[in-house]
Amino acid sequence: MTKVLLTGGAGFIGSHTCLALLEEGLSVGVLDDFSNGSPEALRRVAELAGLGALRQESPGRWSTGDSGPADLTLLRGDVRCPGDLDRAFADGIGAVLHFAGLKAVGESVAQPLRYWDVNVTGSLRLLEAMGRHGCRTLVFSSSATLYGSTDRVPIPETAPLQPINPYGYTKAAVERMLADVAASSPGWRIARLRYFNPVGAHPSGRLGEDPSGSPNNLFPYLCQVAAGRRPRLDVFGGDWPTPDGTGVRDYLHVMDLAEGHRRALAVLEAEPPQLLTLNLGSGSGHSVLDLVRAFETTNGLAVPFSVVGRRPGDSAVSIADPQEAERRMGWRTRRSLADICRDGWAWQSANPGGFGEGESSLDG
Ligand SMILES: NC(=O)c1ccc[n+]([C@@H]2O[C@H](COP(=O)([O-])OP(=O)(O)OC[C@H]3O[C@@H](n4cnc5c(N)ncnc54)[C@H](O)[C@@H]3O)[C@@H](O)[C@H]2O)c1
Repeated sequence: MTKVLLTGGAGFIGSHTCLALLEEGLSVGVLDDFSNGSPEALRRVAELAGLGALRQESPGRWSTGDSGPADLTLLRGDVRCPGDLDRAFADGIGAVLHFAGLKAVGESVAQPLRYWDVNVTGSLRLLEAMGRHGCRTLVFSSSATLYGSTDRVPIPETAPLQPINPYGYTKAAVERMLADVAASSPGWRIARLRYFNPVGAHPSGRLGEDPSGSPNNLFPYLCQVAAGRRPRLDVFGGDWPTPDGTGVRDYLHVMDLAEGHRRALAVLEAEPPQLLTLNLGSGSGHSVLDLVRAFETTNGLAVPFSVVGRRPGDSAVSIADPQEAERRMGWRTRRSLADICRDGWAWQSANPGGFGEGESSLDG
């Protein structure tokens, strides 16, 4: 197969998926503007995959060359910019995994136009570029946020879509755009993957989530409290209708998620053109307190927390029905909550300042 393009491949999920694809022997191109991702992550991905160093070939472009079992090319660029996309597609791209986007719910309420621009205009420009370059295979990072505050447990893909914030609206808009494109002409192979709560890190401790500023999600926040970077964890709501009163979520290890992308790509390539829509989650729910206790037990640490009021827009329980992903692509999560806690802490404790360096970490 030809090269796979990962937009947003320097971010949390993209970098782990990049490693999984390289280990499979695929060649990967990454297009990222580094607004929330790090070139250092990809330098480490190349190292973990046993490739040569990423060397600068021209301004904003680095490559490992093709001496290894696979190769990695990194382009600094914006997914909204047709010129940047054309440069990425010039490498002969056979399929795209579209991770690039903004993902913080609260920020999307404060800056809705920025979210519509990056998430929706970015996807539109990408689809136009795919059309120009004759590439028709796309895996899109969608989200369980589309289901809104539903009471349904577990949630199947057929549940109504009722997002409740601008981030969710932009994901719903792109899902709709992809359905329209798939229906417009034969030949499109598109997967819309609805992630539940991706957490954890690569077991090496070399790769993990490095949120800029204060983490928006529970797990990276918890890791930073355990590391002493933040005084305590705020648990939003102790009066939900759940066994211990705290919210229940479906956590999946980021390496299981990375493998889900590999499977989705394989299915899209092996089967006739189609629009595939799948939940990626474990199918099990854990409360906030379950997660805190698992983290403390696995790592022998104490995590100070206090229960505060509920956050608007949160729901009591969100658990995937992942049966369709198993049926369609033989995928299910394999890693446990203890694996998530161990690997997440291995990353946090070995990299207290995250990836730290910017482009200076790349040779040249
Ligand atoms: N992490 C989650 O909990 C979660 C859950 C559901 C869905 N998703 C979706 O998965 C995708 C990846 O999420 P993540 O957690 O890896 O986020 P992330 O922020 O770590 O990665 C996103 C990457 O996209 C890049 N980017 C942002 N705007 C860009 C632009 N205009 N042009 C080029 N690159 C750009 C960032 O620099 C970053 O490297 C996102 O689309 C997100 O909405 C994430």
